[in-house]
Amino acid sequence: MVKVNENFLKLPGNYLFSEIAKKVKIFQEKHRESNLIRLGIGDVTLPIAPAVIEAMHKAVDEMGQKESFHGYAPDLGYEFLRNTIAKKVYGALGCEIFADEIFVSDGAKSDSGNIQEIFGVDNRIAVCDPVYPVYVDTNVMAGRAGEYSKETEQWSNVIYLPCSAENHFVPELPKETPDLIYLCFPNNPTGSAVTKDQLQVWVDYANKMGSVIIYDAAYEAYITEENVPHSIYECEGARTCAIELRSFSKNAGFTGVRLGYTVIPKDLVRGGVALHSLWARRHGTKYNGAPYIIQRAGEAVYTDEGQAQVKEQIAYYMRNAKVILEGLKSAGFSATGGVNAPYIWLKTPGSMTSWEFFDYLLEKANVVGTPGSGFGPGGEGYFRLTAFGTYENTVEAIERIKRL
Ligand code: MLT
Repeated sequence: MVKVNENFLKLPGNYLFSEIAKKVKIFQEKHRESNLIRLGIGDVTLPIAPAVIEAMHKAVDEMGQKESFHGYAPDLGYEFLRNTIAKKVYGALGCEIFADEIFVSDGAKSDSGNIQEIFGVDNRIAVCDPVYPVYVDTNVMAGRAGEYSKETEQWSNVIYLPCSAENHFVPELPKETPDLIYLCFPNNPTGSAVTKDQLQVWVDYANKMGSVIIYDAAYEAYITEENVPHSIYECEGARTCAIELRSFSKNAGFTGVRLGYTVIPKDLVRGGVALHSLWARRHGTKYNGAPYIIQRAGEAVYTDEGQAQVKEQIAYYMRNAKVILEGLKSAGFSATGGVNAPYIWLKTPGSMTSWEFFDYLLEKANVVGTPGSGFGPGGEGYFRLTAFGTYENTVEAIERIKRL
C-alpha cells in the first residue's frame, strides 16, 4: 500500500497566495460590478522591456532554423548567460563570483524551495518572522520543521528571528544556533533593508558557527540607499558561508517568463563536501535547464539598452511605492518599507487582525492586499501592499483607502 508523504499533511491551510486568490474569486463572483485593484501578490504589470522582447524574437527564429536550433540546454545554464551574470552583476559590484558558480534556473521561488534538499533532514533552520512562506513550507514538506503548534503558529524545530518595529524589521542573532539561516533582503514581506555592516554580522556569525546562509536577493534592484548591499558577497567571508538566490521576475518583469539563478561559491564547504557539487548533482538529475529563448532574454537584460529599460520600469514601481507610503502615512497609518523594496508594510488600524483588515479593504475599498499573518505569527496586525500595480490603479487604491 502506498504511503503518502505525511509531512504534507502537517501543513496548515493553503499556500498563502492561493488562499488569497480563492477569497478574491469568491468576492468577485458575488460582486461582479466591483472594480478590484490588486496590490496583493508581488506580480509585475509592466510589459517586458523591448530589448528583451527583441532578443526573445531572435531566439525564437533561431529555434526554427536547422543551423541554429537548440535542444536541451546545458543543465547548469548556457555559458553566455553565466558569463554575463558573473561580469555584469557580480563583477560590477566588485564581488568575486565565477561563471561556473552560477546555476541558472526557472526562478528564485523554485530555488528557494529546492535548495534545502542538499542539506540533511536533521538540520535546524532559522527564519525571520514574518517570512516568505516558501522557506518554511518546503522544510515542512521535507520533514525538517518538527510539529506545528496551533497556539503559537510556530514549528517546533524552527528557530524564529522576530522582525518587528522595535528592531526595524531586521533580525538579531539567535540564542540557539541554527544550521541553515534564511535571510531575504530587501525583505519580503516587510520591505526592510539591511546595511552592509548589519549583514556582515550575519556572515561572521555563520562562519563562526559553521552555519549556511541562504540569502534571497530577489529584490536587490529596488535598493535606492547607498549603504545597502545588493549581494551578500559584498561582505567579507561570504564565499565560505552563503548561497545567494536571484530572480529575473522582479528586476526585469519575468514573473510569467520564469528565470532565476543560484550562486554557490566553490569555497562553501560543510562536512568536507563542497555544496556546489551537491547542487550541481541535484540540478543535473532533476532539471533540464531553462529554455534557450528565455536565457537569451535574460542575457538581453544586461545589454546597455536592456539595463536602461529595466531601470525605468523599476523607477516606475518605486514611484508607486512612494505614492503608497506617503498616502498611507497621510491617512494616519503607520507604514514602512517602500524605500529599498517594492513592498509597503502597514500596521492594521485599531485592533483589527490582518485577515479582518484584508476583508475590510476588499469589501469597502475593493483593494486586494496581503494579510501580514500569512507570513507568520510576527506578521499579525500587519498588512502588505505591493508597488507592482499600474500607477493609475495605485493612486486610485490609495485614494480609496484615504476615504475609508
Ligand atoms: C510575493 O508576493 O510575495 C511574491 O510575488 C511571491 C513570489 O515571488 O513567489
